[in-house]
Amino acid sequence: MFRFARYNEPLIFELPSRETRERTPIPGIPRKIQRLKPISIPNIEEPRVARHFHHLSQMNYGVDTGIYPLGSCTMKYNPKICEEIARWEEFSCLHPHQDASTVQGILQMMYELEEMLVEITGMHAFTLQPAAGAHGELLGMLLTRAYHENNSDNNRKDVIIPDTAHGTNPASASIAGFNVIEIPSNKDGTVDVKLLKKSLSDKTACFMITNPNTLGIFEDNILEIAECVHDAGALLYYDGANMNAILGKARPGDMGFDIVHLNLHKTFSTPHGGGGPGSGPIGVNRELEEFLPIPRIIKEKNRYRFDYDKPKSIGKIKEFYGNISVLLKAYTYIKMMGYNGLRETSEIAVLNANYMKKKIVDSKRYELPYKQMRKHEFVLSCEKLKEEKNIRAADIAKRLLDYGLHAPTVYFPLIVKEALMIEPTETESKEDLDRYIDALIEIADEDVEKLKNAPYNTPIGRVDEVYATRNLILTWRDFKEEMSEK
Ligand SMILES: Cc1ncc(COP(=O)(O)O)c(C=O)c1O
Repeated sequence: MFRFARYNEPLIFELPSRETRERTPIPGIPRKIQRLKPISIPNIEEPRVARHFHHLSQMNYGVDTGIYPLGSCTMKYNPKICEEIARWEEFSCLHPHQDASTVQGILQMMYELEEMLVEITGMHAFTLQPAAGAHGELLGMLLTRAYHENNSDNNRKDVIIPDTAHGTNPASASIAGFNVIEIPSNKDGTVDVKLLKKSLSDKTACFMITNPNTLGIFEDNILEIAECVHDAGALLYYDGANMNAILGKARPGDMGFDIVHLNLHKTFSTPHGGGGPGSGPIGVNRELEEFLPIPRIIKEKNRYRFDYDKPKSIGKIKEFYGNISVLLKAYTYIKMMGYNGLRETSEIAVLNANYMKKKIVDSKRYELPYKQMRKHEFVLSCEKLKEEKNIRAADIAKRLLDYGLHAPTVYFPLIVKEALMIEPTETESKEDLDRYIDALIEIADEDVEKLKNAPYNTPIGRVDEVYATRNLILTWRDFKEEMSEK
């Protein structure tokens, strides 16, 4: 059952609405194509509307509100200058159907962004088309297929993925028509190279991993992994959603990866999540470049143009240019930070994660299942808290909301029981990290009954998530009906 603890905000439909009069017909336009009857939406004065939505926004929590250590999602503060530049009308008023000769600035930006991503990742070429990480993964899988088909190697139907992988990895491989083979990690939480070698065969199309993995641990054996994957005739795919950990320190191209996706909407200054546009560019090695989506952007004598003449291209994966606003933000961010700035970003992200990890582990309230040094994130387990006090990861996460803090990712990666996955990012101060650490410690010592009913200070109390997924309420009318039955 839902428990809407303190829900008292009227819906926009419930605010007093003014009567809307029929419109007087406009002379010269046929009556039948004019809308004379008012549309059935509330007619409310501007100040009320502004206040209503402003208040709703204040009930929300975002990266501008406070720390948001949602592991794997890299929810960091994004400099406002990036947002401002993306909104400049020189960019936002362009039409995607304009002739290339009239959008030289945008093409230059895209060309240079591709070059910068090449430099950052050590790959040979990039496409900016994919609209999200998972979309990039799908493209990566399509490129994998094109590559093997081009070599008449049509038996390669398997994609091997470690059990620490993000859920989108097996989903993308499966959507592209591959069989997914999951391999368990070793006791250190990294790829079991012996097992990988056994699993590789002439049916393997690709091995897909993220490095550092979702436990925040860097795969030290990556060069050996690359060698054995290539010896088996397969490709090595890098899920670069965790690139925030290694900017300026290590490059997937140098580790031997053939295909890489980046999440510009995590590492490069667009907030992740919230349903906004994303961008998951794909980088490839020299051999795979010919399969990249068309059009490619090329530069000739300081002019830029689209090139469609790529017979081996897999075709288009997204209409027009990709998500331009996200590309503009990434471009601005990279230019502003410079190579040294990006490296410092990762250094602080790693420092912050390890600082938090050490203090929380020293408090002895939570378990740390894998002991190695972490990169940008770490995963705690509440298994002991559950056994000893019946406190679950979900209870801790809900109670953090009462402290005015966003919860970490919970129950992921799947190989950690009662997981709390924390990624503080580089944009949080020591004071904010300490506040979060103190809250986690305090909560672990609280009365279990109190935790079971948390949160208390949010507009909506504890939601029965199973009920919510099985009884979807997608319109305000259904919502009202549900409320009136309570
Ligand atoms: C490790 C990892 N891989 C892939 C993705 C998928 O990215 P997207 O949500 O943009 O599809 C994510 C998203 O958070 C991720 O954390």
